[in-house]
Amino acid sequence: MIHSINGKTKVLAVIGNPIEHSLSPQIHNTLCKELGLNYVYVPFKVETAFLEEAVKGFKAAGMLGFNVTIPHKQNIMPYLDEITPEAELMEAVNTVKISEGRLIGYNTDGIGFIRSLKANDVDVKEKKVVIIGAGGASRGIAVKMALEGAAEIIILNRTLEKAQEISHVINSKIKKIAKADHMNQEILFHYANNCDIFINTTPIGMYPHENDCPIEDMNFLTENTVVCDLIYNPKKTVFLKKAEEKGCKIINGWGMLLYQAIEAFEIWTGITVNKGIIDLLYNIN
Ligand code: ATR
Repeated sequence: MIHSINGKTKVLAVIGNPIEHSLSPQIHNTLCKELGLNYVYVPFKVETAFLEEAVKGFKAAGMLGFNVTIPHKQNIMPYLDEITPEAELMEAVNTVKISEGRLIGYNTDGIGFIRSLKANDVDVKEKKVVIIGAGGASRGIAVKMALEGAAEIIILNRTLEKAQEISHVINSKIKKIAKADHMNQEILFHYANNCDIFINTTPIGMYPHENDCPIEDMNFLTENTVVCDLIYNPKKTVFLKKAEEKGCKIINGWGMLLYQAIEAFEIWTGITVNKGIIDLLYNIN
């Protein structure tokens, strides 16, 4: 038992499928404990067919809010009363706040990534960014970096259409700064050898395939590029190891996971989580 539960305990949750391996309960229950809040955060495995009923149940039960993960980040949108413009652009909701009976959808993945860059003294303003992969995570961070003032965002992906979809959203709804292209060695050299921030959003190199790397030859990198991987298991992927060998500053995905959780917690509670607690959370993994 993380902390005692009584008649006044308020409930937070995460819904997804599968959900067994989620680290969110550990992060949020540590936050509740450290802040002395009588809240508990629990995982719910919800089948897509029962998503609407689950959401109605959460509201009926007077819950404060919940996180949403795979495969429900898009499916949930029709069941909400309000969605932030940012989550609309990202076409995904990972956090719902229940306020006066209204369900409000947010997306904290993009801001989570920005806060993890900031924690490493990296600012995105006026920067040239290259992203490989064009799934949901790529879209969230690409949109947020465009909103935060990146100078240029290049999305490279095996399936060109998916990269084009993200660049189109950015160019038509935010600013004309995005480009999409195929992901191959020649194109990578062209775009990434002088970029400021280079990010892997593909799952290549993730446990249990930790010997894999999305890019064979990373010699195009110079030490002026900050290299990020959204993967946090292993802590240092082959992608990050190769970048480190080139003298680049490297950032793994643990900070993004933590800060998207902290941001969600701050939305639900109105509390600003202090640095001492953030440092403690950094080390629970
Ligand atoms: P998420 O939504 O969590 O970001 P995802 O939807 O699985 O994850 O997206 C992962 C991205 O990694 C996709 O853009 C995918 O490329 P495709 O759009 O061509 O499917 C990319 N990806 C996954 N495995 C890959 C591989 N073996 N080689 C190249 N790209 C890969």
